[in-house]
Amino acid sequence: MTVESTLPAPAAGAGPGQLPPPAPGGAPLLGHAWNLLRDPLGFLSGLRDGGDVVQLRLGPKTAYAVCDPELVATLLKSPDFLVGGPLWETMGVLLGKGVATSNGPLHRRQRRAIQPAFRMDRIHEYATVMEEEARAMAARWSDGQTVDITAEVFRTATRVVARSVLQVDSIDERADRLSAALHTVFEGLYRRMILSFGPLYRVPSPANRRFDSALADLHRLVDEIIAERRAEAASGTNPDDLLAALLADRDENGEPVNEQEVHDQVVSLVVAGAENVAKTLTWAFQLLAEHPEHERRLSAELESVTGGRPVAFGDLKELAYMRNLITESMRIRPAVWILTRLAAVDTTLGGYRIPAGSDILYSPLAMQRDPRAFRDPLVFDPDRWLPERAADVTPAAHAPFSVGNRKCPGDHFSMAELALILGTVVAEWRLVPTAETDGTARIGITLQPRRALLRVEAKSRG
Ligand code: HEM
Repeated sequence: MTVESTLPAPAAGAGPGQLPPPAPGGAPLLGHAWNLLRDPLGFLSGLRDGGDVVQLRLGPKTAYAVCDPELVATLLKSPDFLVGGPLWETMGVLLGKGVATSNGPLHRRQRRAIQPAFRMDRIHEYATVMEEEARAMAARWSDGQTVDITAEVFRTATRVVARSVLQVDSIDERADRLSAALHTVFEGLYRRMILSFGPLYRVPSPANRRFDSALADLHRLVDEIIAERRAEAASGTNPDDLLAALLADRDENGEPVNEQEVHDQVVSLVVAGAENVAKTLTWAFQLLAEHPEHERRLSAELESVTGGRPVAFGDLKELAYMRNLITESMRIRPAVWILTRLAAVDTTLGGYRIPAGSDILYSPLAMQRDPRAFRDPLVFDPDRWLPERAADVTPAAHAPFSVGNRKCPGDHFSMAELALILGTVVAEWRLVPTAETDGTARIGITLQPRRALLRVEAKSRG
């Protein structure tokens, strides 16, 4: 099947033999890489004015940006486009050939291996860990303290994914190492994605040395975790969990999968599970601090559902405002702001010709703030997700966990974790911006507030 069969009507001026129109702007050598380096969010959001699909020059390479939500859904569901392009090529250094970066039969097998760990009944089990970790984080804080929310929630999200999905209990010092290493690696990866000029990154500069050492530490950490589990398996105490399933996985020839593949699978899960949840949570806390009226509504909903006891997994279905608040937070301040694909064959998109081998990119952030898809897109308004207001929203424009065969397997897991951590904290603490808080976006592979330093005030104080 080609994408042609499911395409909406071509945009004016588009023809099946025609390439998408070039995007405006671009510098002589760097092309649009210059715009992406200078103001990526503004640049990507402005592209929609140039058409539904536009052509970009990124240094010596040509790429295509898809700006229309329905076309993005077509792109994600079409077998003509693979996981690839600048983001995933760059992430390959970290993720190797795990489930997030592989394609075709390898991806199908790897996805089958991890999927059972994300069934709803398993999430119910993981919730105990989520509740424990949320309460431990909230209990560490003291009244009037300024908390580095980014660091705190990263640590908590790392511990949750390690203790639940992978059942690694001895994570204490490793959660901090992992957090520090990932931070450095993600910064370096962003630069490498925008300017993919290999020799630049082989120079032994301080920044490159820091990157190499953080990357090596990350891989070492994962090797340690796997080695411990293999030792446990050898002594007959292997828990029945995802890591056990990965170690027991077989390839298409019925042979045990090799060490490297187990490693890459674990890295993919830890990185996706820690980074995306942590950044999403940091934004949610930042938004609550900026909008005390919404914090009060959330607090009131929690009180009416739990009657003051700690929030638990069983309460989540009744927390409708919480769900809308998380959804709105992911819309206006998404962690995942750019995603890329690779055209596997000569194909078409939106009526335009897309040559095989082309890089494709799209920005969930740009779509989620598109005024054609959302009324008052820059207003933080959790009530826009009320069923009676659903007509205001273009559904394809907001898919924080993506769609198609690469849809995030951790979607229900994440929604439970986000709600349990937010609920636990909001029941006890009021988060207040300080003079040091800076809620503007810091750009990296994912987005995060520049400085989520928030003062916590105990609610019991009145
Ligand atoms: C709020 C938190 C999260 C967000 C916003 C998020 C978002 C996403 C998105 C957008 C994709 C698709 C990427 C693409 O289409 O190129 C994805 C894939 C993936 N996510 Fe998540 N994710 C989150 C949490 C998690 C968690 C908790 C886990 C696991 C513990 C996880 C594991 C994965 C994996 C393994 C993939 C690759 C799936 C594949 O390619 O088949 N994610 N995620």
